[in-house]
Amino acid sequence: MEEDKIHLMCWRAILTMLVLAMADSHSYGAICPAACRCENDVLKTTCSSASLEFVPIQLNPELHELDLSNNRIVQLHFSFPFYEKLVALNLSNNRIKTLGNSNFNSQRNLTRLDLSANQIENLSKDSLKGLKALTHLDLSNNSLEELQSAAFRDLHSLSVLRLSGNRLIHLEEGLFHTGKHLKELYLNDNQFLEVPTAALADTTRLHYLSLSRNYILTVEEGDMPNLSELRILLLDNNVLTDIHPAGLSNLITLEHLDVSDNNLTAMPTSSLAKLSTLTSLKLSGNFISSIPPVAFKGLFHLRILRIDRLETLAIIDVRAFVDNINLEAVNMDYNIGMTKLPTRLFHGNPKVKHISVRANNLRTLEATHFPLDQLHELRVGGNPLQCNCSLGWLWQLIQEYKSKSSRINATISGPKKEKLPSFDLAIDDSDITCEGPEDLKEALLSSASRHQMDCSVGWMAAVSVAVTVVFILVVIGGVVYWAPKRQSKSTKKELSVEETIRRSLPQPTIHRKTEAYDTYETAQVEKYILPPPMMIHNEYRSLPSWDTYATPSMNIYEQLNEHRDRPHIVYV
Ligand SMILES: *[C@@H]1O[C@H](CO)[C@@H](O)[C@H](O)[C@H]1NC(C)=O
Ligand SMILES: *[C@@H]1O[C@H](CO)[C@@H](O)[C@H](O)[C@H]1NC(C)=O
Ligand SMILES: *[C@@H]1O[C@H](CO)[C@@H](O)[C@H](O)[C@H]1NC(C)=O
Ligand SMILES: *[C@@H]1O[C@H](CO)[C@@H](O)[C@H](O)[C@H]1NC(C)=O
Ligand SMILES: *[C@@H]1O[C@H](CO)[C@@H](O)[C@H](O)[C@H]1NC(C)=O
Ligand SMILES: *[C@@H]1O[C@H](CO)[C@@H](O)[C@H](O)[C@H]1NC(C)=O
Ligand SMILES: *[C@@H]1O[C@H](CO)[C@@H](O)[C@H](O)[C@H]1NC(C)=O
Ligand SMILES: *[C@@H]1O[C@H](CO)[C@@H](O)[C@H](O)[C@H]1NC(C)=O
Repeated sequence: MEEDKIHLMCWRAILTMLVLAMADSHSYGAICPAACRCENDVLKTTCSSASLEFVPIQLNPELHELDLSNNRIVQLHFSFPFYEKLVALNLSNNRIKTLGNSNFNSQRNLTRLDLSANQIENLSKDSLKGLKALTHLDLSNNSLEELQSAAFRDLHSLSVLRLSGNRLIHLEEGLFHTGKHLKELYLNDNQFLEVPTAALADTTRLHYLSLSRNYILTVEEGDMPNLSELRILLLDNNVLTDIHPAGLSNLITLEHLDVSDNNLTAMPTSSLAKLSTLTSLKLSGNFISSIPPVAFKGLFHLRILRIDRLETLAIIDVRAFVDNINLEAVNMDYNIGMTKLPTRLFHGNPKVKHISVRANNLRTLEATHFPLDQLHELRVGGNPLQCNCSLGWLWQLIQEYKSKSSRINATISGPKKEKLPSFDLAIDDSDITCEGPEDLKEALLSSASRHQMDCSVGWMAAVSVAVTVVFILVVIGGVVYWAPKRQSKSTKKELSVEETIRRSLPQPTIHRKTEAYDTYETAQVEKYILPPPMMIHNEYRSLPSWDTYATPSMNIYEQLNEHRDRPHIVYV
């Protein structure tokens, strides 16, 4: 140790002489080493990536900011007494193994200290002594295994503390005893097996807490202290199998919770139900197999929900989101076990604007799955879609989306100012491919022809079936009608079957039909029920209610196209 010290002093003496020899009269007797950049007007020196092995001591003693990152500095003994006025010091990415004792004792104004990416193994109670103004301390990516409970005792102003990327297993009670101002605490990428409750009990003003990528197995009742100002809690990439129903109930102001990539097998509905201020929730990458009714109970302010990468998810109940009246964005990508979506899943979510169900196992999609009227973004690419005419609505949306974006492009490039619709529905059209039928295999849905997406033949068939049914009913009805009539009114004996059919055919409006029914028994019956003139063999053309679909030259999609309207989804 003594030898070290002498060695160091010799080295300094030599350096000082060199400095004096080379001193430049403009820099207040200080020298700027070749690899550094000295901005004396703002009292800042940057010696980043300068292959330095020691802290240079001949810099301007008035310095406020010193950047020594990415060097080979091993130790800090007696380095900083020269720079009492430092406000920011960056020692990131060096080879520091120990901070020693009291090396920052004169940095009473230092507010930012970056010691990340070194090899610090140990902090003694005096390592950070004197740093009373320090607000930001970065100790991430070091080799800290434990911290003495007095390690941060002088850091009365500390507001952001990064301890991520170390080997911490637990934190001692009292470690944050002076941490009344601590707002952000990064404990991610350590080896915690449980929430460090005792130490966190003092961090009452915490807004942000990251415990990502540890080995936390469960959050029991009382594990999370009363952090009544916590807004963001990250618990992702642990091995959580369970969250006690009261485990998070102290967090009355929580807005963002991330529990993705854990081992949850069931929806933690009751554990989340008390987080009434939650606006964003991530549950991705767990082993949840079903999302039951009211799965997000009580989360009335929830706006953003990520339930993607749930490999085992097979069922979403249609009422899953009913409590989440403020829901705006839902990501359900890569739920590879999902073969169908419940119709009207978003029925109770009037504000939902972004829906993504990419790379599920969906073979078909119905327009009623999505509230198309209000959506701004719909992502459905990567599903093994059967591109039959049931997807005509989606094909139509894509055509509209493409024509709109090409018009926008034209407007941007051309001088002509076209009035464009202010709001649009974005679709991931270039990812929506077909797995079948054979003629569209691996093709983009958008490349299908109108003919391939045309269900009008199907409609014709449906109409024919319906008309046949009506015809049979009419025949039966006619027989029933004719039999009693013959008994009561002998004058109607001559009514032909054809005429009976005509009389019983549905009338254009319900009103007239009712009227006809009301006057059924009257003597004037024929006058009212006589249908419009028509020929039997051409019958369905004159039935107004079928007309839209029956006219061969017209189909539902062309109609939509003409009006440039989305299919309006009417929930029934
Ligand atoms: C610290 O900052 C204060 C106010 O900015 C100043 O008055 C004081 O001289 C500074 N102390 C040192 C040691 O530079
Ligand atoms: C310190 O320097 C590193 C590398 O140049 C940089 O990434 C980091 O943001 C700096 N730290 C601070 C607190 O500015
Ligand atoms: C810490 O290490 C991680 C992983 O190697 C890296 O992603 C991160 O940028 C590092 N952070 C700092 C401040 O060096
Ligand atoms: C850490 O520092 C303390 C006190 O300086 C010492 O007793 C302990 O042995 C050190 N631990 C390690 C792992 O170096
Ligand atoms: C939590 O702390 C807040 C503010 O300090 C206090 O009002 C509340 O009663 C405490 N709650 C519990 C359960 O201790
Ligand atoms: C958590 O899930 C992973 C991935 O399935 C598994 O390898 C691991 O054993 C599980 N751990 C616990 C504690 O359940
Ligand atoms: C289109 O394919 C889907 C999925 O195979 C099927 O459920 C649907 O009935 C088909 N629609 C038509 C009109 O054939
Ligand atoms: C419009 O322009 C964007 C980028 O400028 C391009 O990615 C997109 O494909 C264009 N759309 C059409 C329909 O040309």
